Amino acid sequence: MCGIVGYIGNRQAYPVILKGLKRLEYRGYDSAGIALLQEGQLAVHKKQGKVADLEELVAGKRVQANIGIGHTRWATHGAPNDINAHPHLSGDGKLAIVHNGIIENYASIKKDLIQKGHRFLGDTDSEVIAHFIEEIKRQNQCALEEAIRLVLKRIVGAYVIVILDCDNPGELIAVRKGSPLVIGIGKGEHFLASDASPIIEYTQEVVYVNDYEIAIVRPDELVLKNSSNEVQTPYIQKLDMELASIEKDGYDYFMQKEIFEQPQRIFDSLRGRLNAQKGRLTLGGLHQYMDAFIQANRMVILACGTSWHAGLVAEYMIEKMARIPVEVEYASEFRYRDPIINKGDVILAISQSGETADTLVAIEEAKEKGAVVFGVCNVVGASIPRVSHAGAYTHAGPEIGVASTKAFTAQLTVLVQIAIKVGYEKGTLSPSQYFNLLHALEQIPDKVAEVLKKDQEIKEIARKYEGYKDFLFLGRGYNFPVALEGALKLKEVSYIHAEGYPAAEMKHGPIALVEESLPVVFIATRDAHYSKIVSNIQEVKARNGKVIAVVNEGDDTLRELVDDVIAVPETEEALAPLVNVIPLQLLAYHIGVLKNLDVDKPRNLAKSVTVE
Ligand code: M6R
Repeated sequence: MCGIVGYIGNRQAYPVILKGLKRLEYRGYDSAGIALLQEGQLAVHKKQGKVADLEELVAGKRVQANIGIGHTRWATHGAPNDINAHPHLSGDGKLAIVHNGIIENYASIKKDLIQKGHRFLGDTDSEVIAHFIEEIKRQNQCALEEAIRLVLKRIVGAYVIVILDCDNPGELIAVRKGSPLVIGIGKGEHFLASDASPIIEYTQEVVYVNDYEIAIVRPDELVLKNSSNEVQTPYIQKLDMELASIEKDGYDYFMQKEIFEQPQRIFDSLRGRLNAQKGRLTLGGLHQYMDAFIQANRMVILACGTSWHAGLVAEYMIEKMARIPVEVEYASEFRYRDPIINKGDVILAISQSGETADTLVAIEEAKEKGAVVFGVCNVVGASIPRVSHAGAYTHAGPEIGVASTKAFTAQLTVLVQIAIKVGYEKGTLSPSQYFNLLHALEQIPDKVAEVLKKDQEIKEIARKYEGYKDFLFLGRGYNFPVALEGALKLKEVSYIHAEGYPAAEMKHGPIALVEESLPVVFIATRDAHYSKIVSNIQEVKARNGKVIAVVNEGDDTLRELVDDVIAVPETEEALAPLVNVIPLQLLAYHIGVLKNLDVDKPRNLAKSVTVE
């Protein structure tokens, strides 16, 4: 949800910022802009469209500068056009800002500023910040830092704001509340960014800025102050990220790369935790809170989107293995209905980015009401892991494609380990069930690799169906959330309307849609529901529906019954979602590519949704 880059030091700022914006483009890509400080004057270039359009606009212009800020936008307030693109300038043109987040009370501030004579060019909440800082600085005759501090007391919302001021040419000032900001520490230079990907090739040393902190960033100095204006010692961390992990590495799209990485990423998520031979399963973060899990009266899973689907799978896993009642909630709904949290409730927050605003505010609410919060996140050091009492990282590596793929399977890998471990410690899983599950889990990376070999076969199926306008995805039990995820992937990357349903629900309504022009994707692998799902398939076929079925290898009954099959290896029922989702990811990917769409950056979406 908007990417921010800043640079101050001895290098040329423009190439650093431009490259950084390209790396952050997954966060928003409807417009981009840059402000450079050149001999005391601000040069601002902004353009609707992708960062490449900005690059084209700037080509041939003078860009020499050692300090600058840049932004790639996902529009909230105001259309995605050149004017609403960031950076925004103050009325006197001396101050440029970039902003990620939403200023909720911008309208009243803007009204007030207009009465004072300020003139606004666009419709964004962000432009108001630049004018407001200018106004407060003038009114109070104070330094920029003090003006910013006063402004922060008056604005409501979430933000990272980076400010570049002609009158303070030797520094950038950055502030954060509820949106991410990383500062890279170089030799005589500093890099600011929404995540570490623009920084990684220059330095491994970073500081994650905390909420309510102000960072005064000079080439040789980083001063961090808290909201009480006290200087803080920056906590410098070493980045654990490789450059190759944020590049396409020969693949056509990040989504494709990330789908194909899954055997390795699932393995990474098991590494150091699972030793099936010795019957060992160790999740560091869980150990300390094991009693809370074992004694939990209820677990509430909070997440959004694909992570919510992972949460639904976890509901089946945890209820089955650990016999704890589980509720899976859309974080955005949970937060605003005065949720009931009882003593002994455990909250499980699932998030790839660890920055999703809906999930973040929901867990803050739950924490305030006394719940234990356990975070399952991918991005190390992000906000959700930081506010959780404990947690486990999914180790999927940076996920850049906006449609989540490897993060989902890595989440499932962590969640099933939690369910198995708690079930075993609680005594609701017998030792033999425990050992069987560990052995089956160990084999999952190989089984996923087997499915990936079907890529060309799935591409052929995609070719057959790319022209259809609607799809239905159906599954039962553990495969119901897989159906939801398959439908979400297809609509995200191909813009085809797709619905996911529990297969049994079909006869309660959606069956009215079934006709020859509606492909129905069934996830029909062998499990406790198999015979029932075969009947559901019959019901669709009896009405001339087209059926694509994900089945287990050797299932000749279904092969004969349906139009197209994708056969996948069999595994334990609870682990089947890890294998069964892969063909659905590939189907969506190929249909998107065949339709000539940018599957990495679907329209209107952004990777990290840091606004509510
Ligand atoms: O970073 P998070 O896991 O918290 O993100 C939640 C959703 O925004 C995310 O899963 C979204 O639904 C993906 N684009 C789905 O592919």
